[in-house]
Amino acid sequence: MFIRCLLVLLAGTHVAAAKCKCTPLDSCWPSSGTWTALNASVDGRLVRNEPLAKPCYPGQGYSAALCQQVSTNWFNETWVVDSPIGYVYPLGANSCPPLNASVAVYPICELGVAPAYSIKATNADDVAAGIKFAKEHNVRLVVKLTGHDLEHRSQGYGSLSIWVRSIQNGLKLQDKFTSADGSCNSDWTGSAVQINGGYLWVDIYKFAGDRGYHVVGGADRTVGTIGGYLQGGGHGALSHFHGLATDQVLEYQVVLASGELVVANACQNTDLFTALRGGGGGTFGVVISATIKAYKDQPVLLHNLEVIALPDDSFEDNVNELYKVTTDILSEYPGLSDAGWAGTAWFTVGEGLAYYGHPFLSLLEDNSTAAVDKAKKAMEDKILSKLTKYENGATLKIESQWKQYNSFRDYIFLPPFNPIPAGGTSIMSSWLFDRKSLESPSGNTTQLLQTLNSGNDNIPLMTPGGGATLFNLVAGGKVLDEVPHTSVSPAWRRAYLLVEQIDTWPKNWGPEAIKEKIDRATHTKLKAMKDFSPGMGTYSNEADPYDPDWKQSWWGDNYDFLLSVKEKYDPDRVFWTWKSVGNDGWGEVKGGGLYGPLCETGTSAN
Ligand SMILES: Cc1cc2nc3c(=O)[nH]c(=O)nc-3n(C[C@H](O)[C@H](O)[C@H](O)COP(=O)(O)OP(=O)(O)OC[C@H]3O[C@@H](n4cnc5c(N)ncnc54)[C@H](O)[C@@H]3O)c2cc1C
Ligand SMILES: *[C@@H]1O[C@H](CO)[C@@H](O)[C@H](O)[C@H]1NC(C)=O
Ligand SMILES: *[C@@H]1O[C@H](CO)[C@@H](O)[C@H](O)[C@H]1NC(C)=O
Ligand SMILES: *[C@@H]1O[C@H](CO)[C@@H](O)[C@H](O)[C@H]1NC(C)=O
Ligand SMILES: *[C@@H]1O[C@H](CO)[C@@H](O)[C@H](O)[C@H]1NC(C)=O
Ligand SMILES: *[C@@H]1O[C@H](CO)[C@@H](O)[C@H](O)[C@H]1NC(C)=O
Repeated sequence: MFIRCLLVLLAGTHVAAAKCKCTPLDSCWPSSGTWTALNASVDGRLVRNEPLAKPCYPGQGYSAALCQQVSTNWFNETWVVDSPIGYVYPLGANSCPPLNASVAVYPICELGVAPAYSIKATNADDVAAGIKFAKEHNVRLVVKLTGHDLEHRSQGYGSLSIWVRSIQNGLKLQDKFTSADGSCNSDWTGSAVQINGGYLWVDIYKFAGDRGYHVVGGADRTVGTIGGYLQGGGHGALSHFHGLATDQVLEYQVVLASGELVVANACQNTDLFTALRGGGGGTFGVVISATIKAYKDQPVLLHNLEVIALPDDSFEDNVNELYKVTTDILSEYPGLSDAGWAGTAWFTVGEGLAYYGHPFLSLLEDNSTAAVDKAKKAMEDKILSKLTKYENGATLKIESQWKQYNSFRDYIFLPPFNPIPAGGTSIMSSWLFDRKSLESPSGNTTQLLQTLNSGNDNIPLMTPGGGATLFNLVAGGKVLDEVPHTSVSPAWRRAYLLVEQIDTWPKNWGPEAIKEKIDRATHTKLKAMKDFSPGMGTYSNEADPYDPDWKQSWWGDNYDFLLSVKEKYDPDRVFWTWKSVGNDGWGEVKGGGLYGPLCETGTSAN
């Protein structure tokens, strides 16, 4: 009898273990009354999501005018980040694009991987209510700020999303940093900005800039602050000068899987603090506030360089010259970086359009001619002097321009704002390059550039089907310093350059063509970069999610520590995302479809 009971119990546990999160199609999905109760507990801030482009489709809710509005804004990142289910980067499976339904390519319009419900959270209690509900009702939980995540980690079929963008409890400048309880002031005696909610970098640039400060944030102004960006590492034009964005974090306020609100800094919950400084978003808890270092603003010198292969009859030869000159430029990057220059360069080779371009900046000590001349001289010695031998006027067009700004604030806000179009279909592969691989490579740099630009059918820069290489000269300098309580890939501390290859495809491509493009990104392009700068790693937020060694590439030897923090703070895996620390054992069961429930798979996640 005892044995029988035991067997029944074991069988019971087994069945319970092979479980899935409830989806709207399951009988275990919470009743509408249950959702209403949740809504009441968050003061009416629960949204039942509808596909954004639903007005474009026949049936209830059809509206040509609304459809037009959605279509117009579909690629407008400013509009996208202000929707609970707006995603700047394409949906993992976009099951309702704003197509004119009469085209009939997409006969149905479903939410797909967009969350079923979103809580427009305004405080820690709303966040805790969402976590508690998801746990109690076995509903998949998602955390979203702006929806920029390239690995779709703020999406999830049949999920409840905690939308932190709507937490807006103000920005505070501290002339001298003071921790939440005043007892943990680390060794930072400078100023700080406390970001109490789901603000964007543009908000902080403005807030700090108006008060004479600058901070390390994203190059793209609509990226979120306290979410995936800060928690995953964060680079931008200023990281070279001050360290990674996550290195700037002095303190977080975090709602844990238990629902408890805690402070994490160098004195308390230090393991959590470390994990939230590089370990990635959506994994350890929901951050509702971050305090970051602020620096007295400084004048900026900008250098714009454009090297264009002349699109004439000898275009192919001109492109070969472009490869050569770019190879020469790359070898000078470490020296240029040491001399105080940083930024992101673009390189692309397509039919009729092939160029290298960089808007690089240098922070100046002051407005003096001496400071400007010193910065100019470094650029002239390292780069411009190397270009003279290519300046015969027959193969390449070379343009060099200087521009001076009184402050970083002016540098950000004076030029016209060109938003990055949202919603493109593309794959990114990336790798960090150390000094040696750039200055004295054992491989052939020209061949690497050719490999990166292969397979794009000679379609130029970011046109669907084409591709581009980004040379993010955002490391070196202060990024090389070891920073206590951080968990980014240790490769960052040896890196000068983050190379990113972006390959795009047209919207009408079928799954096989897309797979071929993705496979080439992983098995040809990423592999070539790994061989070129061996033993390095990459940036988890801008990485190839199909990298077979993603854990090693994104976190290196820090992974095991991060996993132990995950075990401690979220043993029940309340927070689960694709490609994150501790996501093993669960996966999306798609059964050949585009999306499906999140289930315990028992195997390694991949
Ligand atoms: C157009 C574009 C430009 C970019 N530019 C840069 C750049 O200049 N520098 C750079 O370093 N990166 C850049 N990125 C990458 C960017 O850092 C990542 O996409 C990052 O994940 C965005 O974070 P988010 O919170 O805004 O996005 P989301 O997609 O909302 O969230 C990203 C991840 O963080 C989690 N998350 C969100 N909010 C919270 C929270 N409050 N607490 C816990 N988890 C949370 C989500 O669950 C998800 O896993 C860019 C991306 C895009 C698409
Ligand atoms: C939640 O309550 C608010 C306010 O009463 C209401 O406008 C909203 O539609 C409700 N949400 C859901 C999902 O019922
Ligand atoms: C959809 O296409 C039809 C036929 O081309 C056109 O008349 C209609 O205005 C379009 N609707 C929208 C919302 O673009
Ligand atoms: C993009 O959206 C924002 C916010 O809705 C709006 O203010 C802006 O005008 C839009 N831009 C364009 C080009 O439509
Ligand atoms: C640089 O000069 C401008 C005016 O030309 C001035 O407004 C600014 O404060 C100066 N900046 C510094 C750091 O000296
Ligand atoms: C590198 O490869 C290019 C293109 O294949 C070739 O022209 C060049 O000679 C090679 N350089 C070296 C140093 O081998």
